Amino acid sequence: MLNLDRVLATITTIAYDAGQLILREMNGTIETQVKSEAYDIVTAADKAAEAQIVQALQEHYPDHHIVGEEGGGTGAPADSARYFWYIDPIDGTTNFAAKIPHFSTSIGLMDRDRQLLAGVIYHPNQDESFAAIHGGGAFCNGDRITVSTTTDLINAVVGTGFGFKRQVEKENNADQWRAFVPRVRGVRRMGSAALDLAYVAAGRFDGYWEPGPKLWDVAAGLLLVEEAGGTVTDYAGVPAPQTRSDYQYLATNGHIHQAMMDVLQSI
Ligand code: IPD
Ligand code: CA
Repeated sequence: MLNLDRVLATITTIAYDAGQLILREMNGTIETQVKSEAYDIVTAADKAAEAQIVQALQEHYPDHHIVGEEGGGTGAPADSARYFWYIDPIDGTTNFAAKIPHFSTSIGLMDRDRQLLAGVIYHPNQDESFAAIHGGGAFCNGDRITVSTTTDLINAVVGTGFGFKRQVEKENNADQWRAFVPRVRGVRRMGSAALDLAYVAAGRFDGYWEPGPKLWDVAAGLLLVEEAGGTVTDYAGVPAPQTRSDYQYLATNGHIHQAMMDVLQSI
């Protein structure tokens, strides 16, 4: 049986080390390469950080499967592994490439049924490490964090994002964005889904919605929100959205969950 406390200590160090690599890379010239769409980019730092994380995870957990944004699946075969890692070396690559200091390293652990077990999101520019294990609460730099107490949507600050298929897919979040703008205190598009979720967990955001983020973007963050006392569903209110393939995520402090669902379902 995995000792999740020990897992959390290990991945906290791994995420911190990746963050230091990324900060060093940020001081130099950053070249971008295009992946699927013109605005879906990757940098040498993404690849180097992922390689470092994957190597460390493989050393500690040789019988786990590892899925990285840049490298695909590696480690133990997916059909025999009991545990699955989802890694985003730089969540917020667009910010990183523009030297906007808001991005994170996200490392999440699930079992083969996609139940969330452990997660760390490290924000190197702020030196903030958000961490959670299933049933153990949520923390920022070792201090307990909880979701906000905001009850009215009009007083809420909410985050969202736009996926890399926004030009080719009809469901590109523009209508939802337009619907929220007049109904909340503020909508934020900060550029890192993992940090958006960490901010909901820390009570900085009252809610977050987004269609389309991948498991490496959200695995750690969804657990953080749940362990901080928040609510995580799809747009229809069904829990454990990470177990399905429609990739619609709604994560809130719980109090404004229904109100956000009402807006999303009105479109
Ligand atoms: C993206 C960011 C962004 C979100 C996108 C993600 P990436 O991740 O998290 O905030 O809106 O859905 O793809 O590409 O920077 O790792
Ligand atoms: Ca990324």
